[in-house]
Amino acid sequence: MAAYPIVDHNYDVVVVGAGGAGLRATMGIAAGGLKTACITKVFPTRSHTVAAQGGIAASLANMSDDSWRWHMYDTVKGADWLGDQDAIEYMCRQAPEAVLELEHFGLPFSRTDDGKIYQRAFGGHMQDFGKQPAQRACAAADRTGHALLHTLYQQCLKHGVEFYVEYFVLDLIMDNGVCRGVVAWCLDDGSIHHFRAHMVVLATGGYGRTFFSCTSAHICTGDGGGMVLRAGLPLQDMEFIQFHPTGIYGAGCLITEGVRGEGGYLVNSEGERFMERYAPSAKDLASRDVVSRAMTIEIREGRGVGPKKDHIYLHLDHLPAALIHERLPGISESSRIFAGVDVTKQPIPVLPTAHYNMGGIPTNYHGEVVTLDDDDPDSVVPGLMAIGEAACVSVHGANRLGCNSLLDIVVFGRAAALRALEVVKPNVSHKSLEATSLDPALARFDYFRHANGFSATAQIRDRMQRTMQNHCAVFRTDEVLREGVKIIGDVAAEMNDLYVSDRSLIFNTDLVDALELDNLVGQAVVSMNAAANRTESRGAHAREDYPRRDDENWMKHTLIWRQADGQVRIGYRPVHTYTLTDENEYIAPTARVY
Ligand code: FUM
Repeated sequence: MAAYPIVDHNYDVVVVGAGGAGLRATMGIAAGGLKTACITKVFPTRSHTVAAQGGIAASLANMSDDSWRWHMYDTVKGADWLGDQDAIEYMCRQAPEAVLELEHFGLPFSRTDDGKIYQRAFGGHMQDFGKQPAQRACAAADRTGHALLHTLYQQCLKHGVEFYVEYFVLDLIMDNGVCRGVVAWCLDDGSIHHFRAHMVVLATGGYGRTFFSCTSAHICTGDGGGMVLRAGLPLQDMEFIQFHPTGIYGAGCLITEGVRGEGGYLVNSEGERFMERYAPSAKDLASRDVVSRAMTIEIREGRGVGPKKDHIYLHLDHLPAALIHERLPGISESSRIFAGVDVTKQPIPVLPTAHYNMGGIPTNYHGEVVTLDDDDPDSVVPGLMAIGEAACVSVHGANRLGCNSLLDIVVFGRAAALRALEVVKPNVSHKSLEATSLDPALARFDYFRHANGFSATAQIRDRMQRTMQNHCAVFRTDEVLREGVKIIGDVAAEMNDLYVSDRSLIFNTDLVDALELDNLVGQAVVSMNAAANRTESRGAHAREDYPRRDDENWMKHTLIWRQADGQVRIGYRPVHTYTLTDENEYIAPTARVY
């Protein structure tokens, strides 16, 4: 292995990732007086939160009656009863306060005529425990994530946060089960850095790029999940991958559900508004798993549109152009660029597209990473937290409601900051580590830097993405998943035959791609195996061979480890069916009614 001089840093807390969750946590921890660094592989305002469109859910009741209890009910039900109800209560109760905090930070929300925050309808948002639609999605036109990310970045600057921008974190430094910091590579000058910290907060986002067609940015390579697997810790509920009904056909870019919230609708080749058949009451605003499955069935049964009859039309051309310009400017632009469509005159060609990972690094509602230790399913991993899409807290269970993701990142970003301020004392010296403690991370880095096999990163990535797209899709069967397990295992083995052409250390994007691919492959392997293992249908996990939800055997979270030999090991954690307070009754499993 080449010798790598190390630059040392000492911090109380290190946050990895500068999307909404990372920035909210960093801001809170820095404001609380701990020495905090935020390490990010892209400039903060380029993080994937910038792409969120439709809104952030909160029961402000500005435009329809609403209550945090109704929001909680919708979230538990939308999650198909796999969400942890203590965490869901925490999130839904805090939502109004979290949104008003953002407003006070300066987030430029759209407004009603009387100056309140504008709220639109979204899939699965209902009043009065499912009776009629609620307007709960607080929106800044259709660029809510953009506005949120910039607002939080400005708050971080105000609190003097130290950013390490374009630093790629390679691995966690673990010491007898305790996280003591991270090793990172500075892309700009090629130097290697050791960040010691009493708490590492992973806010590294999802792993959407395991799929060929996804709404996720190219940076969504699940780097935190990859590090956690290599640290010998499990990931949770990785079989639950949400498909957004309306990705632009061919390009995958998101067309917000807010389009349907403003009155847009889907039609098949017969001009039929087919959602009326599948979800007579919620129609086009049924939850995403329902709409994605309905679209897939329409296409399969020959009622898709276009020359190949392989997609669906989303109409908003009946809406007033002024409304479209005011509330949906972003998707109008994306549709013009990526589909060549003028949305005021033509329908948008759309297709269900991988959008969100419900699974991730298991945590409690304080953001602390948990694992199964002997008989304790909630055993906290000291020194390690995870938040945002990287984490599985689990408020989304088997299927996330729209606009609960922006809410999740700010609520649990704040919760992690509060917890870090409780458990970390400022300026405490760091434990001295074995001289070899960085070696595994550096050896892996060096292996990829000098990888000299025959398979290019792009080739392996393409195989992985096509395998996930074809074998871990909207509908799944044992046969298809078992084949997927085999192929994705072969793809993982191909990483031993990788070829990296650029051996330099400065802005070596070839090496970044290889390291990201390694993170993705680990998560593709555990996702496929977890999906093959769960023999029921629940939320986004639709098994054609097991079409019913099976609460008796499967009301539990999957934990999955990837062992050193590449094989996986599976265990389970119970779902938290208890609430935080006694102000709610337990919401018992019921039949699905949409
Ligand atoms: O459709 C959307 O605007 C997506 C929102 C979300 O995933 O929460």
